[in-house]
Amino acid sequence: MTNSAKMLLIATALTGILGFAPALAAPNWSAVPAKDVTLFYPGQSSWEWSLTTADHPGADKFRAGKNCAACHTGDEKTMGALLASGKKNEPTPIAGKPGSLIAKVQFANDGQNLYVHLVFSDAGQPNAKMDNAYDTKVAMMIEDGSVLEANRAGCWGSCHEDSAAMPAAGGADRTMYLPKTRAHLSRQGGGDALAADLQKLKAGGYELEYWQARLNPGKPASAANGVIFDKREETKPTAVTAEATYSGGTWSVTLSRKLNAGAGFTPIIPGKRYTVAFAIHAGHTAKRFHYVSFERSMVLDQGDADFVASKK
Ligand code: HEC
Repeated sequence: MTNSAKMLLIATALTGILGFAPALAAPNWSAVPAKDVTLFYPGQSSWEWSLTTADHPGADKFRAGKNCAACHTGDEKTMGALLASGKKNEPTPIAGKPGSLIAKVQFANDGQNLYVHLVFSDAGQPNAKMDNAYDTKVAMMIEDGSVLEANRAGCWGSCHEDSAAMPAAGGADRTMYLPKTRAHLSRQGGGDALAADLQKLKAGGYELEYWQARLNPGKPASAANGVIFDKREETKPTAVTAEATYSGGTWSVTLSRKLNAGAGFTPIIPGKRYTVAFAIHAGHTAKRFHYVSFERSMVLDQGDADFVASKK
């Protein structure tokens, strides 16, 4: 038996014993094109707020078919500064919170796995002391066209007026949810009355997948994944892996999972267009006190999109 065959046997045995696959070799990121994505602080600007003409100058055109990113890409820094300052849509600003941060984002695949790599600085982040377990959390949502609201508005498809710490929460601890899971959606959000056809919605793929890396400087990253449907739910087993380093105030984070990770996970296939969007909780923040990006498109191997996850 050759040495490599022996190694393979050992690796296979380990996989069986430990119940997980050994970490795969991540792509050589220096050879992958990168794009800057500006994530900004959204305050309490909800789905319902953004659809209301009296509140949001873009509401009518959004309803008529223009997507958020089509109007706002390039505005994020100004928007974030305004919202983080407490002058608009934010009754409880965090003192000294920067309004935005820029992440350098790259996608790649190795024929088996999709990888996303984010590099960003957390310079100037005050410690908000909301999440004492993690310094920073990095999340990506991914959607294959089945959730129209996320397709057009990224994270806003799941952010509501009555979710936790939002204006109409009334003390409730509601997580994110998708609009059609509610019997009725008003300016105040959807409340707790669920739609009659939940099973049908779910069977039709109306569900939003998310990946998350949970980070503390100098410690191994931990990964989580889940879905947003009538609520946000973490799912097990965890198919996503996370690796991260922190050096000189800069995070370098890689999230990945198998292209086909089984039931509950969006299959990632060549030629299909996916919507991705990012959220970063910096400075020990929780819930809505994060930075978010507008929606971006992503394709596997080839095609026309903001990000092409090429084979490395
Ligand atoms: C037709 C263009 C257009 C579209 C589409 C649009 N917006 Fe806007 N949005 C605006 C304009 C104009 C403003 C006001 C900016 C200003 O007053 O300088 C605004 C303001 C905002 C603000 C408040 C920050 C600020 O600078 O005032 C947020 C948050 C926001 N939009 C989010 C969204 C989201 C989320 C979507 C998609 C659901 C969206 N917008 C779609 C045009 C648009």
